[in-house]
Amino acid sequence: MKNHSILIIVLLLLNCHLSAQKTDADKVNRLQWFQDAKLGIFIHWGIYAVNGIDESWSFFNGYISYEDYMKQLNGYTAANYQPEEWAKLIKASGAKYAVLTSKHHDGVALWDSQWGDLNVVKKTPASKDLIQPFINALRKNDLKVGLYYSLLDWSHPDYPNHLRDKKRYENDPVRWNRFVEFNLGQITEISKKYNPDLVWFDGDWEQSAEQWKAKEIRELLLNHNSGVIINSRLQGYGDYATPEQGVPITPPKSKWWELCMTMNDSWGFQHNDRDYKSSYQIINILVDCISMGGNLLLDIGPTADGTIPSEQVNILKELGRWTNKHKDAIFGTRAGIPKDHFYGATALSQNREILYLFVPYKPQGPIVLKGIKNTINRIWVVGNGTKLEWDIKMKAYWSSVPGLIYIDVPEKVLDEQVTVIAVLLKGPIELYREDGNVIESN
Ligand code: GLC
Repeated sequence: MKNHSILIIVLLLLNCHLSAQKTDADKVNRLQWFQDAKLGIFIHWGIYAVNGIDESWSFFNGYISYEDYMKQLNGYTAANYQPEEWAKLIKASGAKYAVLTSKHHDGVALWDSQWGDLNVVKKTPASKDLIQPFINALRKNDLKVGLYYSLLDWSHPDYPNHLRDKKRYENDPVRWNRFVEFNLGQITEISKKYNPDLVWFDGDWEQSAEQWKAKEIRELLLNHNSGVIINSRLQGYGDYATPEQGVPITPPKSKWWELCMTMNDSWGFQHNDRDYKSSYQIINILVDCISMGGNLLLDIGPTADGTIPSEQVNILKELGRWTNKHKDAIFGTRAGIPKDHFYGATALSQNREILYLFVPYKPQGPIVLKGIKNTINRIWVVGNGTKLEWDIKMKAYWSSVPGLIYIDVPEKVLDEQVTVIAVLLKGPIELYREDGNVIESN
């Protein structure tokens, strides 16, 4: 009898262990395209583009009254909205997915929701669903579809927080439950209507997982589409981390992550924000993300009529030139090696036999690679094919420390932004991380 119970416990534990392994494997499969994608485009498009002010926060923080903020509804025309062109531009940038704000914290939905009437179809001159045509264009271009959805809604009469210093109510379960029903209703709507590949939640910080019904939200999304990916902003029920603006210094702990970042200092269109990062800076930030195994979700903010500002178009085009030339070193690669071995960013092919070196400068002499135990089979310039010469120095026959690999990079092969060098190794990369040794007989 006793043995029997022990056996049952062991079997139960084994079952738990196996199902945990299965969940992990499912997640790895589900997030495969995301891990390979490296670049996505975030789109903040909403009524805030009319005045060119902070999305939602401008009224929440009291820089404009709620009433005046909402007057922007009248100026949101989408008159020049060309979803096909948007998708083509995104495709040309090299991005593999896009994430569009279906509803920001201001509560203005970009589709004709059955839940409430605060949406662009009912309340703005645009008067049409702005999501569907864009999704169609993305799919036509073989791009994955992401929808941003703000869990908190500062316009909804049953949502407790309204302005930073003003609450509608405190502890009123009836009203809160009504809001939850509304939220689950809208989330179900976007899931069924648009079937996104990725749902990008935001604003989860104002309530707990229990209050949002985060677990139920995750389940309803996965029940409808077992392949859907959910970002982290769902109080612990998401799939991948979303550092914001701050470029990671050391590789984030999460296996899957995505840095979301503005091109200037604003998410939405702001005519007065000219503080653009250069394409050189943005490419190097993308390289940082790639080298640490993550993605960059780079934001654009179209104007109220749907025009993508020329500065943003130019950045996307230059990104496209660079990503297209260097695609082998970008898409589907994995995080590179510690900086001790190369003074810069690196990435590895999935079989770990090609090491990609990113060179964002004009070298004054040969670049150096250290502590690589493998034999090198070949070195070439990505997107150009030129074979490069290398020379190994400091390889003492009695020492286990690998020699210094000096690679000559002639000026002629330099990219105008970031040059990429491929190093083909014999076998998967092996790094020397020990302390070296002293000669014992000479
Ligand atoms: C923040 C802001 C929001 C913006 C988002 C993008 O959460 O609340 O305005 O849309 O970041 O990551």
